[in-house]
Amino acid sequence: MIKLKLAIWFVSQIIFLCLFIPFNGFTQQAVWEEVAPGVWRGIVGVPEKPDFLSVAEPDVKKEALQRMPVVRIPEQPGQMVAAMHDRSVYLRFPLQREEQLFGFGLNFKTIHQRGKVLTLHVDHYGGRDNGRTHAPVPFFVSNSGYGVFINSARYLKVWAGTAVRKDSENPPVVYDRNTDREWTSRPYSDAVEILVPAEGVEVYLFAGPTPLDVVRRYNLFMGGGCLPPRWGLGFTHRVHSLYSDDDVRNEVKAFNERGFPLDFIGLEPGWQSASYPCTFEWSPERYPEPAKFVADMLDQGVRLNLWINPYVSPESPVYEKIKKYTGSHTVWNGIVPDFFMDEADEILKEQFVRSQVDIGISGYKIDEVDGYDHWLWPDVATFPSGISAEQMRQTYGLKIQKFLDELYREKNQRTYGLVRASNAGASPLPFVLYNDYYDHKDFITALCNSGFSGILWTPEARGSRTAEEWLRRMQSVCFSPMAMINAWSSGTKPWSFPEVADAVRDITHLRMQLMPYFYSEFAKYHFEGTPPFRAMYLEPQFNHSLEKVRGSSSLEENPYAEAITREIKDQYMAGENLLVAPMFAGQENRMVVLPEGRWYDFYTGEFAGEGEVITVEPGLEKIPVFVKDGGIVPMMKPLLRSPKAGEKVDIEIRHYGTKAGNYLLYDDDGETFDYEKGAYSWRKVAVERKESGEFLRNISPAERGKPDNIGAITWKQMTNQ
Ligand code: GAL
Repeated sequence: MIKLKLAIWFVSQIIFLCLFIPFNGFTQQAVWEEVAPGVWRGIVGVPEKPDFLSVAEPDVKKEALQRMPVVRIPEQPGQMVAAMHDRSVYLRFPLQREEQLFGFGLNFKTIHQRGKVLTLHVDHYGGRDNGRTHAPVPFFVSNSGYGVFINSARYLKVWAGTAVRKDSENPPVVYDRNTDREWTSRPYSDAVEILVPAEGVEVYLFAGPTPLDVVRRYNLFMGGGCLPPRWGLGFTHRVHSLYSDDDVRNEVKAFNERGFPLDFIGLEPGWQSASYPCTFEWSPERYPEPAKFVADMLDQGVRLNLWINPYVSPESPVYEKIKKYTGSHTVWNGIVPDFFMDEADEILKEQFVRSQVDIGISGYKIDEVDGYDHWLWPDVATFPSGISAEQMRQTYGLKIQKFLDELYREKNQRTYGLVRASNAGASPLPFVLYNDYYDHKDFITALCNSGFSGILWTPEARGSRTAEEWLRRMQSVCFSPMAMINAWSSGTKPWSFPEVADAVRDITHLRMQLMPYFYSEFAKYHFEGTPPFRAMYLEPQFNHSLEKVRGSSSLEENPYAEAITREIKDQYMAGENLLVAPMFAGQENRMVVLPEGRWYDFYTGEFAGEGEVITVEPGLEKIPVFVKDGGIVPMMKPLLRSPKAGEKVDIEIRHYGTKAGNYLLYDDDGETFDYEKGAYSWRKVAVERKESGEFLRNISPAERGKPDNIGAITWKQMTNQ
């Protein structure tokens, strides 16, 4: 049987080689095959394993893709040419003038990627957008409405519209530096060129028509976005590393007494008997009775998330067993499990399940799987599975997310955790990226960028120099995929700055109030592939504005055109209806670019502007948030814990503006994977306007036999007519 499979594989590879593309130096166009609705694959040479898809093993959401607009292969990237040189694949994709590119993973400083030279390489972000980052996803999106994914777990080199070929059909103008002011050190380039250091690669094209559709297709192709448990969208606090069980109990008590919401607590390295390298065993001093401690916490409705890194200490009970399934090099004196070996998975699984998951631990934070180079395994490391160190580096974070996700799937229990490295194919994995870098503005740009690449990002709050900064960071965190304080070193509490403690409490309450909205938006990530947090460039109305201003004769006459064609990286969409424009320490006012259509203030319902740039001065207590005309936002009261499965919660449905509105409110048990078998419902919310101006409001009834957590409904018309 195995021989037969091998023979089939061998023949198919020869066919690929003969049919599809290049022999040494010879350049050819690709043959594309539609592998899912609106998704095409081209194969160049002989692709190798592992690649991202073989690691992520996506459960392609074909039906959801089928429901999207019927499209033809995007013509422009379809003209990709490929060549083989020097045992590498060279790829070239044509670009049009004015075309802008987004994506290439978790960038922190820029959203526009045209003009970049990148080496996509998993690493801790080092302060420059050069491709070395926590999730250097080899996927880019064009504002012309197509996307390209390179399915290779190698360090890819990308010239995103920088390189100029002498045979270019759209060559740059030649200027004389001596006399022409137009001379530039970066002449116009009409292509994206990519070097894949392998003898073959799969390339995937994603159709639009809009850039948001492209991203949706990518996410659906990867299996749909993750749907966290409801509690994952509540508030979380990571305590000081050396806290004991009693310290944690006191912390929870203090949260309760002060009225701060708290759904889960993160224990940092000190929960283990030794860490860096890790034992994966509880510290007998700090946590003498872990099962009892975890049970006590769960009784109070507080879940626990454990910090780990994967590097195994000689003191760990699994050390001897796992040794032969680890790499040649150590990381902080710990041996490095080869997650491509089933044996390594089994050994760790047994330990994690017995000592942690089975006593009620709800999730993990997977640290240090990104870099830096000085401490991670080098590229000359070897692994027993035969996977190269480079491929291991590119996929390690992804692989551990899969490993942990499966642990919880087996228990039919959803998890939601953190990870410091990820890559392509991560959309369905319930982990949020974070890092040690701490620039508030750049954290927001990362949040914008995360939406292009099927990843989630939290601008975690750790500490601050001033009360103002603390509040501003907390405001941003509450409008992100994970509302979190990471006090592992600072020991900060939400109320650490008394001057702003009430305002911090208010914003954490608002986070809880928005749970029905955010939960529904995550469900749309899962079922429709729409990223819950995303850059303005994925907002169709924003792109309409871009279209309009493009023909604009003079930017001076039309300052909106200037603002909108600039890189907008400090405001973003949180779900379908909310535009969030964070404030940063030292700022009293800021500009907000409102896309086409009328927009309303989230807090008051007042008209804020229409397709224009406004300046807002929200005061310290508020983070500016705007709602689109007709926008519906379902909210609940500010519970201190997220609703449990079956717990009925009253909902207030807000409607903003003057237009009619529709909204899909999602419901399921909030904890298990039963939604994957149909145990969920969408309640259709509609606000219509009669000719008399009166509003008619309706919500469809809960479906029979489906989870129903929605109690009484009240309506709130936010905008005075
Ligand atoms: C860092 C991580 C921090 C914290 C710390 C604990 O690497 O980014 O969030 O967990 O380790 O030692």
